Amino acid sequence: MSNHSPAVSASETPDAGLVEGAKRVAAMSAGAVVLIVGVLIALAVVMSPPDAQDARLSADAIAKRIARVGAVEVRDASAPATHTGEQVFAGQCSGCHASGALGAPKFGDKAAWSARIAKGFAALWESALHGKNAMPAQSGGQFTDLEVARGVVYMANAGGAKFPEPTESAKPAK
Ligand code: HEC
Repeated sequence: MSNHSPAVSASETPDAGLVEGAKRVAAMSAGAVVLIVGVLIALAVVMSPPDAQDARLSADAIAKRIARVGAVEVRDASAPATHTGEQVFAGQCSGCHASGALGAPKFGDKAAWSARIAKGFAALWESALHGKNAMPAQSGGQFTDLEVARGVVYMANAGGAKFPEPTESAKPAK
């Protein structure tokens, strides 16, 4: 029996050796896989901050673009008079008032403006908004009523008046 036992164990040994070898290969493969995965994870961790930053930056850029559009809308709603009297004059009034076309009082012509200025700012704004004789209504065009008021003040002051910058509350009743 003592001879048989080694024989048995000898015949078992190659199998056991193979199994042991296979286990070792498997363990090494597993170790290699773990190592590769670990390296990949480490690479992913190292690479991800710039990627994440890019994503954050483009999100910020988009947010800024959206905010800018929103800001313009808010500004339009809360402060409609975004053009100065000079800009309104150049854009909508100068066609007649620079040359005196249709009998319009000319810009800077104090003699032509003094009697009109004497009527007061509200009356002049009223005339400009709703029109007077050959002058068509200036309300409802590309400028707000308050911007038209700025145009009136710009022209009247150039004609000798000292009207202050108009506000919405100075608007004529009609
Ligand atoms: C199509 C020509 C024309 C345009 C454009 C025009 N006006 Fe006139 N405007 C006239 C004429 C003509 C008169 C003289 C009206 C009258 O008294 O018979 C006049 C008169 C006026 C008066 C004096 C009103 C009064 O009661 O005496 C004011 C103020 C005035 N215009 C402002 C403006 C402003 C501000 C604009 C631009 C937003 C403008 N006008 C654009 C033709 C024009």
